[in-house]
Amino acid sequence: MSNQISRNFWKIFLTVVAICGNLYLPAPAFSQSDIGIEFKDKGQIVNSLSLSDLATVAPAVSLKVFEIHEKKERIYKAYPARALFDKAFSKQWGKAEEIVFISMDGYQASIPVTKFLSHDAYFAFAHDDNSPFTMTNILQNNEVVQLGPLYLIWDNMKSKVLLEDGASDMPYQVKSIELTTFATRFPNLPPPAKASAEIQHGFLLFRKHCMACHTINGEGGGKAPELNYPTSVVEYIKPEYLTRWIENPSSIRHNTLMRGLPLEIPNRTKVTKEIIAYLKAMSKAKRSPKRQDIH
Ligand code: HEC
Repeated sequence: MSNQISRNFWKIFLTVVAICGNLYLPAPAFSQSDIGIEFKDKGQIVNSLSLSDLATVAPAVSLKVFEIHEKKERIYKAYPARALFDKAFSKQWGKAEEIVFISMDGYQASIPVTKFLSHDAYFAFAHDDNSPFTMTNILQNNEVVQLGPLYLIWDNMKSKVLLEDGASDMPYQVKSIELTTFATRFPNLPPPAKASAEIQHGFLLFRKHCMACHTINGEGGGKAPELNYPTSVVEYIKPEYLTRWIENPSSIRHNTLMRGLPLEIPNRTKVTKEIIAYLKAMSKAKRSPKRQDIH
């Protein structure tokens, strides 16, 4: 009898363990509809909205865009960004300088507020046909990437400017959105104040095309290697190879996950030259990364 009880006990015990085990299987966080998107203002959390909260902010639309990561048209279900910002921050967001989007894969897009005032951005949360919310990123060696919880897209079909911008300002896996100023958030990225016009322009181009993935002096995105500290890439990569790397990385390293400078942008040679001028200037302005910005 007591054997019977103990057998039953073990049967039940093991069943419970099995069920719990299944529950604790690491499910991708972005598949849950109640994941909270964090909204910050200069480092302070001011709001946290679940995906179901977002549905109450503004009616979702179906938006057709030119999908730059795939070089074809796509239709997404999406919420208008300005309506979302009005609700999550306050109408004051338009007076901020910069919005930083932090993605689950370490990407950090830093986008001037003016771009959101002059173009229509949307947060996509699903494909229009309800297929899995992923994409084959041809800019990233055809890697299949998750897009959720939120994917920032632009109404770009009729905008030459947006089409020429490349994919930098289209972060996917967005989990946190922060109002800030560039100078307080990234104090060690700008070149010395007296730097030449070429270097200053190279810095703007670096902000636009590189810093979402890379850090300089520890500041920027955490998706790719630091480029300046303690040894700058201009010190250990031969100049002609650095140029080639920026313009066409897969001509150097097979299967690399770095995308080159967008093919769409005009004056690519000049752009590369200016970015390298900025990198050279920073190699003389090394600062030890203080905070651990990268995850
Ligand atoms: C979408 C993310 C992404 C962007 C944008 C990006 N990179 Fe990269 N970069 C990477 C990754 C990932 C690697 C590592 C690739 C590898 O080792 O194959 C890398 C590697 C590099 C390296 C080589 C570092 C080393 O020591 O091996 C340099 C130099 C570099 N990137 C410069 C740039 C510059 C300049 C830009 C802007 C024009 C840029 N990257 C934009 C992702 C990115």
